[in-house]
Amino acid sequence: MEIIERINQISKNLEKRIKSVSTRQDLEDLRIKLLGRKKGEITSLLKEIPKLPPEEKPRVGNILNQLKKRAEDLLRTKEETLKQEKEKRVVDVTFPGKKPQAGKIHPLTQTLDEIKNIFMRLGFQVITGPEIETEYYNFESLNMPKYHPARDEQDSFYIDSDYLLRTQTSPVQIRVMEKYNPPIRMISPGRCYRRDAIDASHFPVFHQVEGLAVDKNITFADLKGSLTYFVHQMFGKNTKLRFRPSYFPFTEPSAEVDISCIICGGSGCKVCSNKGWLEILGSGMVDPEVFKKVGYDPEKYQGFAFGMGVERICMLKYGIDDIRLFFQNDLRFLRQF
Ligand code: DAH
Repeated sequence: MEIIERINQISKNLEKRIKSVSTRQDLEDLRIKLLGRKKGEITSLLKEIPKLPPEEKPRVGNILNQLKKRAEDLLRTKEETLKQEKEKRVVDVTFPGKKPQAGKIHPLTQTLDEIKNIFMRLGFQVITGPEIETEYYNFESLNMPKYHPARDEQDSFYIDSDYLLRTQTSPVQIRVMEKYNPPIRMISPGRCYRRDAIDASHFPVFHQVEGLAVDKNITFADLKGSLTYFVHQMFGKNTKLRFRPSYFPFTEPSAEVDISCIICGGSGCKVCSNKGWLEILGSGMVDPEVFKKVGYDPEKYQGFAFGMGVERICMLKYGIDDIRLFFQNDLRFLRQF
């Protein structure tokens, strides 16, 4: 009998079909497929009962009703199971927690922030300048005319014949002095660019912090005092300083500042090449020629200036031996700060 075969077919696969469902939406779709009022597989069979011979009606009706009930029970149980599974997924407090990936501040930014904070405590304000500069601001105004040897040393990235990427933050000194009258106490952090071949201590882009203080009666003692405060705050009170005579075209006299090696404390090691000292910045008293260029009277005003490399300070502070690490964005490195 054909109707019985169709009932058996449904009955045989019923459990398997319900079991394979994994979402409540799929389960609802299956319920409609089986028991939907218009086209449900079981409903359609029930609709055929009136057409059966009278003696078959009770038996087939009975079997079909049982099948219908079984389908309803299985669907209900499955719905319950899916519900419980979902709740379990939401509130299973025994699951190991997932640690969110928290971002960190880049070590160079951290170092820069620290430098800025130290000088701000001394009353310096932060003023930034452009990264694209003219030859006048980057060189000429700083007492480095075309024939000046320091200009060859600093192989520059030229944009065209008039503009270049600044090789130092010193041009900001000039821009600030052109705009404001003394007293001035400012620092200027920012990116600089040089056509250096990349190695463990050179990268074509790097960061400097420039400093400038101009007033009446500023002396070399003010320079020493400010930079000593900076070094003690940055590297610790026990760090020794050495002001070593040097030359910069825009300062006279000039001094480079060395600190006692923070790795060996001065006894000599690989980091300080057995010298016990590490060079950390350049500085000096503003050259009267520079004052003349910006219209300050060198008889009336004195000033000191300094410039330091942020990468170098950061490398010394944390014992980093390769500048390239700052620019590779390797999380294994960055997560350590
Ligand atoms: N601009 C210099 C450089 O890039 C660093 C420097 C030295 C800046 C002495 C100064 C200074 O303001 O007084 O090497």
